[in-house]
Amino acid sequence: MKQIKQLDIEKIRNDFPILSQKVNGKNLIYLDNSATSQKPQKVIDAITEYYKSYNSNVHRAIHSLGEKATLKFEEAHEKVAKFINAEKEEIIFTRNTTESLNLLAYSLGKNITSKDNVVITEMEHHSNIIPWQQLCKRTGAELRYIKIDKEGKLDLKNTPIDNNTKIVSIAHVSNVLGTINPVKEIANIAHKNKALFIVDGAQSVPHIKVDVKDIEVDFLAFSGHKMLGPTGIGVLYGKKEYLKKMNPVFFGGGMISNVTKEDAQWADIPNKFEAGTPNIEGAIALASAIEYLENLGMDSINSYVKDLTTYAMKKLLELNNITIYGPENGDRTALISFNLIGIHPHDVAQLLDKEGIAVRAGHMCAKPLMQVMDTQSVCRASFYFYNTKQEVDFLADSLKKVQGVFK
Ligand SMILES: Cc1ncc(COP(=O)(O)O)c(C=O)c1O
Repeated sequence: MKQIKQLDIEKIRNDFPILSQKVNGKNLIYLDNSATSQKPQKVIDAITEYYKSYNSNVHRAIHSLGEKATLKFEEAHEKVAKFINAEKEEIIFTRNTTESLNLLAYSLGKNITSKDNVVITEMEHHSNIIPWQQLCKRTGAELRYIKIDKEGKLDLKNTPIDNNTKIVSIAHVSNVLGTINPVKEIANIAHKNKALFIVDGAQSVPHIKVDVKDIEVDFLAFSGHKMLGPTGIGVLYGKKEYLKKMNPVFFGGGMISNVTKEDAQWADIPNKFEAGTPNIEGAIALASAIEYLENLGMDSINSYVKDLTTYAMKKLLELNNITIYGPENGDRTALISFNLIGIHPHDVAQLLDKEGIAVRAGHMCAKPLMQVMDTQSVCRASFYFYNTKQEVDFLADSLKKVQGVFK
């Protein structure tokens, strides 16, 4: 059996300058990692170094600074590609998961008609709902949902995927339920029906080793800022056979092979999808973030965060008057959504903030799921590899305190 390297959390925490600060006079306990992760010094340094020593535009300059920036930007494509077992030309830099999915909905939408349907699930983030809703409105296609069961897992026995399904787009890990969806199984169903299979990896790529060939995905979208990188840099992976055939959706500099007064021809992939000056330092810093993650080891990260989530689940289940959403164990990771019965989640989050604990409260950009769960909003504690069991203990104690305040 493969040996998993243990993480030295104390040492790791020293790499994240933000974690040592006090908030409201208390040690910061950052449990909002599903919204965005914190950044290690290595990533902050990569951004600073770019601006201090080789800030320059890419792909255009003949001078040395421009050449260095271009080289680093190209290397970033390569680094991301290797990280998910793809090829360099299959990596398109976008702003975030949202933009990656919108790009797909626009570009793939050209081939969708009113006879077709698009399948998503009831546990999607708005980013993987609205682009498809809009596509269906434009084309007259039908938007269908794979339902979730009581445990918060997908009901794969009764999927609405059929011969008219052109696109199946699902979250790998739910940002509300923490459920890890069986993407390979769904890929199989999609491909049997000749549908394209898209995975929203926003909550999986930061935690799980994602191999695009292994999960047989046609497209994968994810965000740099949830995996130690800066905001404003995201990724769209696409199989090159599809990307080559697809039309770009943004037009301008950097994406052409020729332009005349009347017409234009496109550059090769990925440039044809990366119009305009890109987020150069974002891409370079994302490459740095990936180096950091790889140095720890994705298996070690996944194992540590899964253990911590299991521990947190046990601690939260010990509380009275709490509703926890999603599977209690097994195929889940990294986050727990809950409600303290009779207390509004915003009040819970506000009182936790006074204890230095950052959690999220609200609809989590998943309003259709909230409807299915029969609630308006939830609290969410989400973990990364720099969180500790002591922090989870403090969260549980603080939640008891909150319950005391509202007695
Ligand atoms: C599952 C999921 N998909 C998509 C997104 C959107 O990510 P971004 O805001 O970085 O585009 C999020 C953000 O929380 C998410 O959790």
